[in-house]
Amino acid sequence: MTPQTDPCCESDLLPSLGVDHGHCAVVGLQWGDEGKGKVVDLLAGQFGLVVRYNGGANAGHSVQVGDQRYALHLIPSGVLSPNTLNVLGNGVVIDPAQLVKEINELRGKGVAIGDNLRISDRAHLVFEYHKTQDVLYDQAIAAAMGGAAPIGTTGRGIGPCYADKALRSMAIRVGDLLHEETLLDKIGRVVTVKNTVLSALASQCGQPFEPFDPETIFRDTVELTKVLGPHICDTAELLHSSIADGKRLLFEGANATLLDIDHGTYPFVTSSNCSSLGVHTGTGVPGHKVSNVLGIVKAYQTRVGGGPMPTELNDATADRIREVGKEYGTTTGRARRVGWLDLVALKYTATISGATGIALMLMDVLAGLPELKICTGYTHEGKALKNFPADPGVLDNLTPEYETLDGFEQAIEDCRRFDDLPENAKAYIARIEQHVGVPVVMVSVGPRRDQTVLRDV
Ligand code: GDP
Ligand code: IMO
Ligand code: MG
Repeated sequence: MTPQTDPCCESDLLPSLGVDHGHCAVVGLQWGDEGKGKVVDLLAGQFGLVVRYNGGANAGHSVQVGDQRYALHLIPSGVLSPNTLNVLGNGVVIDPAQLVKEINELRGKGVAIGDNLRISDRAHLVFEYHKTQDVLYDQAIAAAMGGAAPIGTTGRGIGPCYADKALRSMAIRVGDLLHEETLLDKIGRVVTVKNTVLSALASQCGQPFEPFDPETIFRDTVELTKVLGPHICDTAELLHSSIADGKRLLFEGANATLLDIDHGTYPFVTSSNCSSLGVHTGTGVPGHKVSNVLGIVKAYQTRVGGGPMPTELNDATADRIREVGKEYGTTTGRARRVGWLDLVALKYTATISGATGIALMLMDVLAGLPELKICTGYTHEGKALKNFPADPGVLDNLTPEYETLDGFEQAIEDCRRFDDLPENAKAYIARIEQHVGVPVVMVSVGPRRDQTVLRDV
């Protein structure tokens, strides 16, 4: 059994969202956790394929269908739609143990996983030693800086795995799983070098280190391959032949544009191109094929981990938003930092990701706040900044300029039409559109599929 259809998913939502007949990317425009999982799940039934292009199990995409909640880390959020093919593209870094765990958990909840899941043979593998390296690096750097972990990674081995991909001789790819001799040889080589590096790092952190045993890793990986093997294929070829057959592709971004390794708030970012720019390298589908980019935006700002956040709040309003919005991480359970919506950052990320429409999420969380602030400019050392700055030191020390709008009292989780929203909520939305220059095509008023307001544009 695969989860139920939902009345609001049976009709063709795409024209109301301004989505044309081409392919579409769903991309976070803040620091993650904007609600990408909900939107992908909502739209998946209208696309033949849902394709992850970046990141790994650092992502936590929650999907709610009726009363059932699913926390997806690696498996695309299209998996709850019965006729959708779900693809992990070459740009994803895959922890095979986590993937098998996720498959088993989903099967345990009655979700069918078989021919509907494909894994790129060109994707890279995350091993336990990557996770150890991730944690030790953050600790070693923090110790050297005499303070808290500077990036505060999810500890899922993402940075070390992408670093090994760039190093090449330290990398192991999904395709290697299909050739036991190659796998054994690579694991032997790589683990020897890793043990040297990790034991030095551990001793710098004053921690004991038990070297990894290549044979155990090999044996465990061969076991996991029994589950994963049938899903492995050349996904770039699959995507191009699907396009040729007239199928439509929905690309699911993990993480978000302000966490993009090139365009985000570097170095407080993740290790992949999580903006829409990563779709092409991460799947093998070229840029001109993707004509729609749905930018997913929370109605306020959140961030997990370290790094600058110009509109951050540390007061009772932040606590209220955190509690009402349940702002605790899907992957690590960490409390998310909370702030007012930052339109300077949003205009920047909407441009970088080429957003053609915005889905405004968690709007219901703002109900009851007497006033809503919205950041429309930055000043630094007395001067107005024209652009979103690259320098984290500037981002940390600038002064956000706020406009204050009247809040809306009334709860909106039962609103289903744009006209049903309170006038002050509509004014908030209009201000976003005016500043960013991209239409808000969807307003989400709760986690469930049906708690969605479409805007005909
Ligand atoms: P993602 O990483 O972008 O997929 O987002 P997460 O799943 O990590 O975090 C978004 C959270 O907000 C999840 O718990 C969703 O179930 C929930 N959510 C999504 N849309 C809405 C909404 O409109 N209102 C409320 N209250 N919750 C929402
Ligand atoms: P989704 O897909 C929120 C953050 C981490 C950390 C930084 C680097 O659920 O929106 P990493 O483990 O990737 O090296 O951590 O990036 N981060 C996320 N924050 N949502 C995410 O994904 C994130 N993925 C990474 O908290 O600050
Ligand atoms: Mg998340």
